[in-house]
Amino acid sequence: MFKVQGLKPLHGKIKVQGAKNAVLPMMAVSLLTEGRTEIRNVPRISDVFLMAEILRDLGCQVMFQDDVLEIDASGLSGTVISEKTVGKMRSSSLLLGPLLSRAGEVTTWYPGGCVIGKRPIDFHLDVLRAMGAEILDDGGMLIAKAKKLCGTTFRFPYPSVGATENALMAAALASGTTKLLNCAREPEIMELCSFLRSMGAKISGERTGTITVDGVEKLFPTDHVTAGDRICAGTYLAAAAAAGGEIEITGVDPVVLVEPLKALRKMGAGIRISGATGPKARIGMVMERRPAGVEIDTGPYPGFPTDLQSVFLAVEAAGSGESRFKETVYEARFEAAMRLAAFGADVSLHKDTAIIRGRYPLVPGIAETPDLRGGAALLVAALAADGLSVISDSGHLKRGYEDIGRDLRKLGADIEEDEL
Ligand code: EPZ
Repeated sequence: MFKVQGLKPLHGKIKVQGAKNAVLPMMAVSLLTEGRTEIRNVPRISDVFLMAEILRDLGCQVMFQDDVLEIDASGLSGTVISEKTVGKMRSSSLLLGPLLSRAGEVTTWYPGGCVIGKRPIDFHLDVLRAMGAEILDDGGMLIAKAKKLCGTTFRFPYPSVGATENALMAAALASGTTKLLNCAREPEIMELCSFLRSMGAKISGERTGTITVDGVEKLFPTDHVTAGDRICAGTYLAAAAAAGGEIEITGVDPVVLVEPLKALRKMGAGIRISGATGPKARIGMVMERRPAGVEIDTGPYPGFPTDLQSVFLAVEAAGSGESRFKETVYEARFEAAMRLAAFGADVSLHKDTAIIRGRYPLVPGIAETPDLRGGAALLVAALAADGLSVISDSGHLKRGYEDIGRDLRKLGADIEEDEL
């Protein structure tokens, strides 16, 4: 549970953690080789701990010291991912491609939906079937088999991040060439491609959305430093936009934050990129007035990230104008927006669009986190509320933020936490 005393402007510097959505597929891909793979700058979040547990259950050795993960899949023996595990973490579906490729079979379950949407994995299954896998659906249990995956040409109906990742991991050791069209172009896809290339894979074209993979015989362990988490960075910038103040973020490449930074500038924030380019750059932001209204459509990269929709919407709940947020990626990602009513926010929903009329200050509220990013949005709203808010969280935030309370306190927020 978080107790937040609002109306304290934020000040200070923070280095963001490594990217959750880059680390999880890289952990999965380590199954494709024997020997010790090292992944550095890994956040200590529950999704990583859970993926490590799954890999151990499959017979891998996994060491996680500070922010360094060592994975050795030489002893891979298991091919079954239990329904309970899949129920705990959707990203376990990222093991489909690598396990099928390495072990020739996988037994797992449909991950089921979550509060933000139904989230089917039909594209994942279709591309693996196109590569020659036989996939049986036995009442929700999936039994996939393939002696040897074969190269193919496949067009994704939608640039799905997870399906693109599964296809890449399956194609790396497949026989022949795989051509993937309408792929996701998220920074995490770019990172997975360079990670796979450092293991010896032959991959090209990822920046264009059309990826070619020439299957190779063998992949080798690698050593990789994970990029900074752009969604964490966006969350902390949004927190400072809502609370006011001046902060500096390091550890993330501003190039992967173009749309969120553009939106912050439209809100009236002063943004300064200094120091080196790339991940060593410093992103400075100053917000001296109430955020002006904005119009945002979420979309696949390089569009505005859906994972920042709820936190930016929370900023505008305490803004000075009217804003419109259109959610195009998920069909049910406004639960957090509706829970902002607990802080006196004026939010109305019209199908896939939310209209927000800013009010400041918000009133202190009592709310429960609906999901990972929705939880961060409630914290952002509480920073702009005139009094003490109480936010209960059943572990959503820890799934993606190493220690959001610590980080916001570091920026001067008055946040107390207790285990209740
Ligand atoms: C990844 O999820 C991220 N998770 C999500 O972040 C993020 O919201 C999403 O990409 C979009 O950016 C990880 O990387 C672990 P998709 P993923 O496949 O791969 C539909 C967070 O907060 N779809 O690109 O599951 C799907 O239902 C999380 O960190 C199908 O219909 O996303 C959704 O509407 C939340 N069939 C859309 O595509 C499929 O087979 C985008 O999903 C696959 C997807």
